[in-house]
Amino acid sequence: MKISAERTARLTKKIFRHIDGATTDRLPNIKTFPASIYVDPELAKLERRRIFATCPIAIAHGSEVSNPGDFITMQANNHDVLITRKRDQTVGVYVNSCRHRGATLVAELCGNRKTFTCPYHGWTYGADGELRSISFSDTYGDVVRAENGLIALPSEERHGFIWIVEDPEATIDVASFLGPEIDALLSESGLGQYTCAKSEVLELPQNWKIMADGLLDGYHVKFLHGATISPYMHDNIMAVDVFGRHAFHATPRRRISEIADKTPGTTPLNRYCIFSLALAPNSQLTSHPDHTEFWTFLQDRQQTTKCRALLRILTPQPLKDDAARQIMEKNYKILVDAVKNEDIPAGNGVQRSSAMPAVKTVQLGRNEVLNQLFHANYEHLMAGGEWEGLSPSYVTEGDDLSFKAAVTARAGGDASGSDLGEPSDQPAASSPLSSQLNRDHPAA
Ligand code: FES
Ligand SMILES: [Fe+2]
Repeated sequence: MKISAERTARLTKKIFRHIDGATTDRLPNIKTFPASIYVDPELAKLERRRIFATCPIAIAHGSEVSNPGDFITMQANNHDVLITRKRDQTVGVYVNSCRHRGATLVAELCGNRKTFTCPYHGWTYGADGELRSISFSDTYGDVVRAENGLIALPSEERHGFIWIVEDPEATIDVASFLGPEIDALLSESGLGQYTCAKSEVLELPQNWKIMADGLLDGYHVKFLHGATISPYMHDNIMAVDVFGRHAFHATPRRRISEIADKTPGTTPLNRYCIFSLALAPNSQLTSHPDHTEFWTFLQDRQQTTKCRALLRILTPQPLKDDAARQIMEKNYKILVDAVKNEDIPAGNGVQRSSAMPAVKTVQLGRNEVLNQLFHANYEHLMAGGEWEGLSPSYVTEGDDLSFKAAVTARAGGDASGSDLGEPSDQPAASSPLSSQLNRDHPAA
């Protein structure tokens, strides 16, 4: 993932300040939220309406359907979807449901076809979603083909990713959803030219938000990944640029000490940091020197306590030979072993706790900036209101006085104590959403 020299210089300075001071970027307050958000089926229904039917979701990479006729299918949050590359090279996203009696049109996860014939009674559709033919049409009766194509979902291919909104009536505008900074960052990243080298769907016994939280969290690495990842990374150090609903962050590897005497900005950080883009509401891109992980977390529509995590490995070039594939497979195994053996069991524990009546709330520290952003996004979306996201000024490198002064000015109070108060555009504890989420814990 490419990062501009200017951003690299700024990040480098910030990271070395954090290493020297044993600090990390922070938000002003600890955040508490109800554990019921991981178990409540009514909230899961509301998520489908207020989050997944309104937000653009980064659901796939364009290279997963690179040639005309290529397709993939998946169970998204509100619909089973069929994603195709049309003859004109644009992408089509359709509800994977035949317009006759609703059979699943395409059962395979991926492939290449000119047309899609329903296995039930043989209606046939094109990659552009148009109804091409009806079997035994002489006896079936009159059907207006133009009105019986596959149901299209709003979609856009931007910066190499395929985004959808899961409401056929909605419109999609990815650039405005991302905001100018993240849009520019994705553009400069070069990820649009990457290739999907491998993909896997992880079916997990935990709510989608637990899995998303786990991968946003840099606080746990020293403990949960003490023998696997921690030896290579600085613990509890994250440099975070928050841009509205989304964020870019960097976590330094220990080997960053090799460039401590270089002028900041003159050495690319790819080999010295892990970069991530946290894309609201449910996707993450995590960049390593030779590949980028592309995660999308999806609800299980039947069970709140289950989810599907889509993991795609993007590489800068197509894998040309066995040696390149072996490197990718080795990296993949390191990642998936850590996730399956360490993150997922911890998340399963969170899931079990969330169903225990005595466990009313859980909390996030000031240092868990990305998780707080994720939950602030979640709460505002669930409240159904407009929200611009967090302003970058809410992230501080520590308890520096200029930040305290800025918060004091906004709050109109005295920030001399340790509690900085509640900034005005932070989600307020007494918002209608909070009261909604803070309702009684459902019976286990
Ligand atoms: S349900 Fe597809 S042709 Fe009948
Ligand atoms: Fe982890």
